[in-house]
Amino acid sequence: QASTEVDVSAVEPGQAIKTVWRKQPMFIRNLTPAEIDAANKVDVNSLRDPQSLADRTLEGKTNWLVTLGVCTHLGCVPLGAAQGEVKGEFGGYFCPCHGSHYDTAARIRKGPAPTNLVVPEYEFLSDTVIKIG
Ligand code: FES
Repeated sequence: QASTEVDVSAVEPGQAIKTVWRKQPMFIRNLTPAEIDAANKVDVNSLRDPQSLADRTLEGKTNWLVTLGVCTHLGCVPLGAAQGEVKGEFGGYFCPCHGSHYDTAARIRKGPAPTNLVVPEYEFLSDTVIKIG
């Protein structure tokens, strides 16, 4: 179907879940204040794909990071969206296929991926339900 609704009420700060949208893996992450600070401390102009956390999240909801779970290098599914999974050197996601490291805003920081993890169209239907697509 064109869109999907996800209940995120059980996703605590520091947790991320995987879901599926249009047959593609999606990551939904509830960032901690420390993860938000880490993302905001980075000089955007130093990034390969320059975007701020605010560019990648909704106003007033910057703790909710919604991205495709598809590495922008060759399409593997990065690790970091399930409990106990390795998050790489920048605390976000890590693609084990060729070693791409994404930060807490899912921006590419190290490795071969050319761009940040893609943020889809989405909106909040309520405080706890996200509609993707
Ligand atoms: Fe992710 Fe190559 S597919 S690093």
